[in-house]
Amino acid sequence: MNKFTYSYPTKVYFGKGSAKDALTQELNQYGDTVLLAYGGGSIKKNGIYEEILELLKESNKTVIEFAGIMSNPTYKKVQEGVKIVKEHEIDFILAVGGGSVIDCCKVISAQSLLDEDIWEMEYIKGKFPTDGIPMGAIVTVSGTGAEMNGGAVITHEEKKWKGGIFATTPTFAVLDPTYTMSVPRTQVLSGAFDTLSHAMETYFGNSDQDNVSDDVALAIMKNTVDNMLRLLTDIHDEQARGNLMWDSAMAENGILKCGRQTDFQVHQIEHQLAAYTDCNHGQGLAIIQPRYYRYILDHAREKLTKLARVVFNEDTAEKGLDALDDLIKECGLPTKLNDLSSTMKITPELLKQVADTTNIIQSNPYTLSKHEVHEILLECM
Ligand code: NZQ
Ligand code: ZN
Repeated sequence: MNKFTYSYPTKVYFGKGSAKDALTQELNQYGDTVLLAYGGGSIKKNGIYEEILELLKESNKTVIEFAGIMSNPTYKKVQEGVKIVKEHEIDFILAVGGGSVIDCCKVISAQSLLDEDIWEMEYIKGKFPTDGIPMGAIVTVSGTGAEMNGGAVITHEEKKWKGGIFATTPTFAVLDPTYTMSVPRTQVLSGAFDTLSHAMETYFGNSDQDNVSDDVALAIMKNTVDNMLRLLTDIHDEQARGNLMWDSAMAENGILKCGRQTDFQVHQIEHQLAAYTDCNHGQGLAIIQPRYYRYILDHAREKLTKLARVVFNEDTAEKGLDALDDLIKECGLPTKLNDLSSTMKITPELLKQVADTTNIIQSNPYTLSKHEVHEILLECM
């Protein structure tokens, strides 16, 4: 095991009715003015908005709304939120949504207490924020696990870049599976694939042998696949959605990363693809991930074989990858880049730009060159 420090700053309220428990127990610690942040309006259609607003009123909070946080949230949207936070002297930020809303709020929180631009601070000066407006997260779509960490993934449109910004960790997270029941089938399954990818990409980073983190990662992968298959039989299976919701949080709350390095090369490629195309995160991963593992197969055979055995009950790495392909197809997730919804026509030239700007990770089984990233992306067309 490598040296590590682990703490659990996010208090989790899991299960039906948890929003009431969380808001009544947590909000009295903060000032009166709450920023209620959400996305494009799903919470107004499924009743979550009214429920949360009522709870905020019962807690005697003054509510300022910040709506329209888009999937793949932009740096511009972050600045819009910061302006509102400063104007209204917000005491607490409540993010109600998925990874996009939660991530946008994490950066709004940190940027609001800084005198300098957070992107420049982190990427040019190598400094990281130590403070932020306190925030909580109410998860309405799961997969990213964004509710239990301080990392945010933001698209900087001017820089044609999508990547991580270290910002504020939510002090509490509400995970009520019933809130996810209105999430459409493709999003449920692409979110679950994101969780699978997080556990896989952690597992494939450097670790010593028989590391407990590897075994926990395998257990999360297996449980995620089992519950994805359950949803294929009944997409409204609330218990399966709940299992996936906790898998999602477990995969990204840091527990799998203790004492080891991570890979996350597929995430780096997908994020940059999204910077150019605004594609759906889980769907982009579902296309790239199998090609990546086939590309690095000879460098990761032992771990892939173990994964094949534990997660897919197959005895070779190749059969495990075939099972991964089958799962993606059964879930109806896209298998080619041209199946993605994109703001740009995906061409080999565009993919060259994606490859050239992709962050290369050193701790994975094989360090790719930019040329090889391009080759993998071309195989995805
Ligand atoms: O915007 P609304 O109208 O709310 O609709 C959303 C959105 O269209 C909809 N939705 C959310 N809750 C719903 C619902 N629809 C019906 N019923 C509900 N209860 O779902 C759609 C997707 O939402 P979004 O938040 O974009 O999805 P997700 O949670 O997958 O987040 C994706 C973002 O998170 C980043 C991704 O890169 C992407 O930007 N990630 C964040 C990570 C982190 N912070 O740890 C790690 C991940 O690897 C990932 O990169
Ligand atoms: Zn992800």
